Amino acid sequence: MRIEWTDKFKAGVEKFDSQHKGLIALINELQRIISVGGDNKELEKVVTEIYEHKKNHFADEERLMLDHNYPEFEQHARDHAEMLDKLLKCKQDLVTGDKMVTVELAGLMSDWLTNHIAEKDSRYGRFFNDRGVY
Ligand SMILES: [Fe+2]
Ligand SMILES: [Fe+2]
Repeated sequence: MRIEWTDKFKAGVEKFDSQHKGLIALINELQRIISVGGDNKELEKVVTEIYEHKKNHFADEERLMLDHNYPEFEQHARDHAEMLDKLLKCKQDLVTGDKMVTVELAGLMSDWLTNHIAEKDSRYGRFFNDRGVY
């Protein structure tokens, strides 16, 4: 099922909202490949793109948090690091041909949208907005 951008994903910092939209586009591409039974090479390519996208995005979020002494920085950065670890493991599983990895990837991405972007990223919006960052 295609994920559409809605306000529940809105963090309120323009750059990060547009990066989150880019991530949703990649997740939709991942779902498309899974739904047509795409091969592991194709999956590996999109997972690599997701990994690179996240790595850059996380660095941007964390830099702004550090600049403004965001109180939840440590826990937030830990979430990011765990996600990158999990993605690397999925990539490894794709290389070794583990079939269940598609289920794991789909679950990982939908949890991320609900539990990280719609919750934890949304929380920093107000904090940054109060400091003049939109
Ligand atoms: Fe984010
Ligand atoms: Fe985040």
